[in-house]
Amino acid sequence: MAQALTAKRETGCVRTDRTVKGSLRSNNVNGDRREHPRSKPAALDFFAGSGLAAEALRPFFSLVWANDICEKKAATYRANHPARALKVSSISDVHGADLPDAELSWASFPCQDLSLAGDMKGIDSPRSGLVWEWLRVMDEMERPPRIVVAENVVGLVSASRGKHYVALHEALSARGFRVGAVVLDAVRWIPQSRPRVFVIGVVSPSLPDHLVSEGPTWCHSSALKQVSRCVEDFVWWTLPEPRATRVGLADLIDYGAAAHSKENSQRNLQLIPPHHRTRMESIINSRPAVFPGYKRTREGRQVLELRFDNVAGCLRTPEGGSSRQYVVIYKDGRFSTRLLTVQEASRLMGVRASYRILGSYNDGYKAMGDGVAVPAVRHLARHLLRPLARFKD
Ligand SMILES: C[S@@+](CC[C@H](N)C(=O)[O-])C[C@H]1O[C@@H](n2cnc3c(N)ncnc32)[C@H](O)[C@@H]1O
Repeated sequence: MAQALTAKRETGCVRTDRTVKGSLRSNNVNGDRREHPRSKPAALDFFAGSGLAAEALRPFFSLVWANDICEKKAATYRANHPARALKVSSISDVHGADLPDAELSWASFPCQDLSLAGDMKGIDSPRSGLVWEWLRVMDEMERPPRIVVAENVVGLVSASRGKHYVALHEALSARGFRVGAVVLDAVRWIPQSRPRVFVIGVVSPSLPDHLVSEGPTWCHSSALKQVSRCVEDFVWWTLPEPRATRVGLADLIDYGAAAHSKENSQRNLQLIPPHHRTRMESIINSRPAVFPGYKRTREGRQVLELRFDNVAGCLRTPEGGSSRQYVVIYKDGRFSTRLLTVQEASRLMGVRASYRILGSYNDGYKAMGDGVAVPAVRHLARHLLRPLARFKD
């Protein structure tokens, strides 16, 4: 959708010059909301995928309804969560009037158009633009949820000088939500670098003091600070800072898993840039070791670039030009290469060992690469979403 951009000179913000999507909703906080006879507040899980957001929210919320378009992911969702809650269809075919009442609406909406690995077409593009369908569905509900969370890659905030975030923030504000965002990097809980932005809105005349700070804290990135100046009344949600994990990638690796053939490994090892090879060889000793990396094209040549911090790079969806993550394994005095196994990928998402991941290698890898990091979302749910759900002003 072509839109005129207006630069806001004082702040450096770029915003979309348009009417905010959707209409003003009535403030329902003191409205006639039916109480559910269950101890946990109810939640709706949009773009539910293979159920990792549901997995993280489950200790605190009762997942009463979920939706995703992908039948393969739905199979994994059903293998781990109550099957009756999941509706497999495009969100475009979902009608708010058919949804059950809930306190929380969660949307991990598609990221391809906001991700550096994608083509950055933005929040009005066909895939990431499905976030507007999420709002449309809630507008159709007789009693829309009081708390909303939209999760995505940090490009939502950092790309195009924040205009995608501003559009979403304003659309939520126009519906009566008080809105702010946090950035949580999964690496605080698990050895995977995976920063994600969580946009959180609540309909409430006042906000609990202990959940809001006066200004930025550890969970606000510099891009968030920047974008906060482009919107009215940014809410500085705050959470307790978690202790850094002591678990490293080396602790999650199956050193016995099958490696590539000798020839294939050799081909991959030759792609490692000389300075990475020197560094890798200087680190190893008698113990097994692991070095994760992605293949990239640099100056027209394919290279396998490694990390040396005992942390995996961000797991990605193996489509749209982004490759899968390799590991170089050092064991018994030899180097070999292979892809991460699905089990390893699931550990890197903080998923419990008993979580059933169905389908092929690609299905399983995609299910994990597309999901949310379970401990990061659990932290958010425990320390912010559940208290918000309990807070009745
Ligand atoms: C970022 S993933 C969500 C991951 C999920 N929340 C989890 O933690 O496992 C985005 C999801 O949007 C789904 N999706 C894409 N287009 C859709 C549509 N038109 N309607 C409903 N879901 C759609 C994809 O199948 C994918 O599972």
